[in-house]
Amino acid sequence: MKLLVTGGCGFIGSNFIRYWLRKYPKDFIVNLDKLTYAGHLSSTKDYSKSSRYKFVNGDICNPVLVKKAIKEVEVVVHFAAESHVDRSILHPAEFVRTNVLGTQVLLDAALEQKIKRFHHVSTDEVFGTLSLGTKKKFNEQTPYRPHSPYSASKAASDD
Ligand SMILES: NC(=O)c1ccc[n+]([C@@H]2O[C@H](COP(=O)([O-])OP(=O)(O)OC[C@H]3O[C@@H](n4cnc5c(N)ncnc54)[C@H](O)[C@@H]3O)[C@@H](O)[C@H]2O)c1
Repeated sequence: MKLLVTGGCGFIGSNFIRYWLRKYPKDFIVNLDKLTYAGHLSSTKDYSKSSRYKFVNGDICNPVLVKKAIKEVEVVVHFAAESHVDRSILHPAEFVRTNVLGTQVLLDAALEQKIKRFHHVSTDEVFGTLSLGTKKKFNEQTPYRPHSPYSASKAASDD
């Protein structure tokens, strides 16, 4: 199976790819990542030369590039995002662009390619905050209550 992983040079994406390549020795992964300040090629160093891995340096907001990267892919795992809450307060526009528009571009391409499964990675922060020490938990019925441009953009991308 061929997968497209976005944001695979980030914290979670790079570990996901490492795990997947080990667990599924027949699968091939394309990693599409813009290499922002949060993305590091060094995080993928141990598998970057694998014959089952290809890195594409680019932006998920670029429909032409996404269309190319998604070719023959069966599953998309979408990690790419602007993900740091504090930065979202200072620079919200980039969060809206990547998290909302970028997800839209990927979804359009996935629809066109008839992708079997699109796994979008969200965040608990879309539900807001819980008081310290509370026994309450969020669940999928919890109403959305984002509190930052980061969580608002993730909430928008979930919809
Ligand atoms: N880390 C956490 O604690 C946490 C918790 C909940 C949810 N999440 C979600 O999990 C996902 C991954 O989080 P992370 O901590 O690995 O993030 P990260 O910031 O470490 O990595 C994000 C990656 O996305 C890439 N990227 C950013 N904009 C891009 C663009 N326009 N096009 C292509 N690539 C782009 C960056 O270069 C980077 O490699 C995100 O969607 C985040 O919202 C993270």
